[in-house]
Amino acid sequence: MDFKNTDDSVTRRIRAMVERVTMLQDNDLYFYNLPISELRGGARVLVNGRDMGMYASYSYLGLVDHPRINAAAKDAIDRYATGTHGVRTLAGSLKIHDELEATIADFKQTEAAITYTSGYVTNLTVISSLLGRRDWVISDKLNHASIVDGCMMSGAEFRRYKHNDMEELEKRLQQAPADVSKLVIADSVFSMDGDLIDFPRMVQLCKQYNAWLMIDEAHSVGVLGKTGRGIEEHFGMEGTIDIKMGTLSKTIPSVGGYVAGKKEMITYLRHASRAYIFSAALPPAQAGAANEAFKVILDEPWRIQKLQANTDQFLNGIKNRGFNTLYSSTAIVPIICGTDERAFRMTREAHHHDIFALPVVSPAVPEGLARLRATVTAAHETDEIEYAMNVFEKAGKEIGIIS
Ligand SMILES: Cc1ncc(COP(=O)(O)O)c(C=O)c1O
Repeated sequence: MDFKNTDDSVTRRIRAMVERVTMLQDNDLYFYNLPISELRGGARVLVNGRDMGMYASYSYLGLVDHPRINAAAKDAIDRYATGTHGVRTLAGSLKIHDELEATIADFKQTEAAITYTSGYVTNLTVISSLLGRRDWVISDKLNHASIVDGCMMSGAEFRRYKHNDMEELEKRLQQAPADVSKLVIADSVFSMDGDLIDFPRMVQLCKQYNAWLMIDEAHSVGVLGKTGRGIEEHFGMEGTIDIKMGTLSKTIPSVGGYVAGKKEMITYLRHASRAYIFSAALPPAQAGAANEAFKVILDEPWRIQKLQANTDQFLNGIKNRGFNTLYSSTAIVPIICGTDERAFRMTREAHHHDIFALPVVSPAVPEGLARLRATVTAAHETDEIEYAMNVFEKAGKEIGIIS
């Protein structure tokens, strides 16, 4: 590669990354950005002509390629075509956007909702619009990058507490000056570890210390609660989150993000959040697909039951084979391998046996806790899950992760 300057920090940064990627590619250890040519219902995918079992998807309820959702997307194209041609505030808001926001508010049992073009952007813009200098934002150390970036962008005092440690959260709340606004923010289910937050205690602390509570439900919508409504339903504590954030790109087979809550807060965000007023709206097809997906979740509750059964089979099966899965209790199962190198080798073995799962290595997770992160969905069948677990077991024994 020809660089403008051979030794400035930009060049060094680019070169270090390129060298790392090249080293992995040269050693048959590069598993990212794989070319998928067919989705095959979500439980299987076609990669470089090979039919593989898919264990890296967040399509928890297997709604990918659902006929009703596909039809809704096509219908939205027929009615509104493909683009939104500007920001909603100025270029006009399509009826499908209003319908989607009403559907989300209904699903999340709130007064109103607002949508953005990605979950990442939703966290960035919502946190930075609600908070400003002098306010305090208190965040779990394992929160998603989009939350961290939103906190930093807000200019508020940014404090973190040890993962899921409610005593440390209380200390941070006590440290905040009495006259500042406080926001506590956490993922409901953690995307690297698959564990749940201590929601009841967190709600109680927010009440006690008069703090706002924002929860990112990217991995709990469709997953937790009898009807898939998320963490409040799971704990029977409806109406306790002030700012309910979620994405339209995981259980919901579309793209985008949303926040649901009180009407006045949504009115504020519609006129103050920069990703809404300075960025084009969701394309109609994606809004139509998302709108229908929330309805399918309620109409097909068997999917939630099947996801639960598949999660039990997978999580227990992996644990019984001797793997460490940390505190996961959901469909996200971290199979701890130890060193980065072991996680890469484990992945390579899995791929050679047609199992699509991805390694997560440092710095994304602490050194020594590199893992294969595998997810199951409602689309998997019992024998497919058994096959995948046997592949992991054989590889784990060969590499020396389990005995
Ligand atoms: C917890 C969490 N929040 C937010 C996001 C961002 O969502 P999106 O992919 O829709 O931008 C993700 C996606 O990985 C996530 O896991």
